Amino acid sequence: MLDLGEKTVYQIYPKSFRDADGDGFGDLRGIIEKLDYLQGLGVDYLWLTPVFPSPQNDNGYDVADYCAIDPRFGTMADIEELISRSERRGLKVMLDMVFNHTSTFHEWFQKALAGDKEYQDYYIFREGSGEEPPTNWQSKFGGPAWEYVPSLGKWYLHLYDVTQADLNWKNPRVREELKGVIRFWKEKGVKGFRFDVVNLISKPEHFENDFQGDGRRFYSDGPHIHEYLKELVRDTGIGEMMTVGEMSSTHLKDCIRYSNPQEQELSMCFQFHHLKVDYKNGEKWSLTEPDRMELKRLFEEWQTGMQRGHGWNALFWCNHDQPRIVSRFGDEGPYWKESAKMLGSCIHLMQGTPYIYQGEELGMTNPHFREIGQYRDVESLNYYEILLGQGKTEEEALQILAARSRDNSRTPMQWSGEANGGFTEGTPWIEPAGNYGEINARMQAEDEDSILHFYKTLIRIRKEKALISKGSIAFLMQDNSDVLAYSRAYRDEELIVLNNLTDREITVSAEPAWSRYEKLLGNYEGCRLEGGSVVLRPFETIALEKRG
Ligand code: GLC
Repeated sequence: MLDLGEKTVYQIYPKSFRDADGDGFGDLRGIIEKLDYLQGLGVDYLWLTPVFPSPQNDNGYDVADYCAIDPRFGTMADIEELISRSERRGLKVMLDMVFNHTSTFHEWFQKALAGDKEYQDYYIFREGSGEEPPTNWQSKFGGPAWEYVPSLGKWYLHLYDVTQADLNWKNPRVREELKGVIRFWKEKGVKGFRFDVVNLISKPEHFENDFQGDGRRFYSDGPHIHEYLKELVRDTGIGEMMTVGEMSSTHLKDCIRYSNPQEQELSMCFQFHHLKVDYKNGEKWSLTEPDRMELKRLFEEWQTGMQRGHGWNALFWCNHDQPRIVSRFGDEGPYWKESAKMLGSCIHLMQGTPYIYQGEELGMTNPHFREIGQYRDVESLNYYEILLGQGKTEEEALQILAARSRDNSRTPMQWSGEANGGFTEGTPWIEPAGNYGEINARMQAEDEDSILHFYKTLIRIRKEKALISKGSIAFLMQDNSDVLAYSRAYRDEELIVLNNLTDREITVSAEPAWSRYEKLLGNYEGCRLEGGSVVLRPFETIALEKRG
């Protein structure tokens, strides 16, 4: 059995990690170069976002061939070498399986377009005139979710970009093809899988208009989703592997089923509710201050809910789709280091398996792009036009992108203060953030007090302490919107974790017993436990431990 609680996963976005051949585009050999760094961090798994042949309209999430490597990233021999060299260092490789859709350049879709009925049934085609799409559903990247193919007289569904056609999971042949993909990579030595937007694969029996939303309520956690996952896991024998499903607009009750070991579906789930607390009225493209009370409520709901249902959470703030967390809920100014550490400890000491997205362990920030020409992401480019169409000025639209664009996390990894942060000797496909002179791995490696060292400690103590990897969780100070506090318990041990979410000093009342606890970890000297209270300094995090 995998001890999920002891593991930490490191997410690599290969395109922006390290470019070994100087073409400005990160590659597999670049990852091989950095294995010492990754081993030094102490993580267990390396999750690579897609490196398969792809037109790159959605940076590889538009897969044209699941069983090959895009030449821009390298060769099959390179990935085999990466897998074996990682294994020798105790690092396991996880790949990203994008099974909700394929690129329209995939052979299957090309055959469908050429009129092959068998392959049309691999996708979701609907007859109709060109005037009106089958439903009013919206694509997640903006615009209608259906595209008309005049030569066929049919529409196809694409929940994402128009070049990402949704697969028809009702068709058993599709399910068999995808199982073959898993078996292929398993044989190559891959030890885990991340399943992209996997809770969207089961579409409803009948397609109807959505007059309340964009259609997602009909296909998120859809009717046959649990059946399909069980079948995939059973027939590929990945039940004992590390698997994580990315769940879009999901529900707690479904995530319990996806990740409860008895169900034999997945090891754990990514859900995004806590990353919407700064969306105004739930709208990503409309800015508001983070609602800290709601953030706390959501953590409590998911932590204690999954605990009760014997589900398992993936713990994360960052990935390649999210702006940098220190720019979002932390501070880029005087408390940059403190806030980055606090945000790390806040989730790493919870119940679940933590994920670190490249550069998060350095406190990398958003790049603050100022011109539309600096952006690359299809979603950002679409929404820029949509925002202008809604009457926003260019300046307003750019301000929204600077806070919300997925490109915020896709800028090159900051290895050193050298040109382009040491990412490439060529011209990077996307500009680096301007602060790589101050925020980089080389500087932090030499500084014992760095964010990087703090993350190493977080990873290490999770392995050392059953209290963290196995302990139960309960939330404290629920009425205080400024402090996220919880306790962990295992046998007669206890851990108290206090996180000041603000840039102000906050005083909270302390239990008398805490004065006998030992400080396990923190981002300031000492602990200001005074009389019956604790004074938390700006963005302070502190973990106090009672030994049994
Ligand atoms: C997931 C990926 C994202 C991609 C989308 C469509 O959300 O993380 O990058 O655009 O799925 O595949």
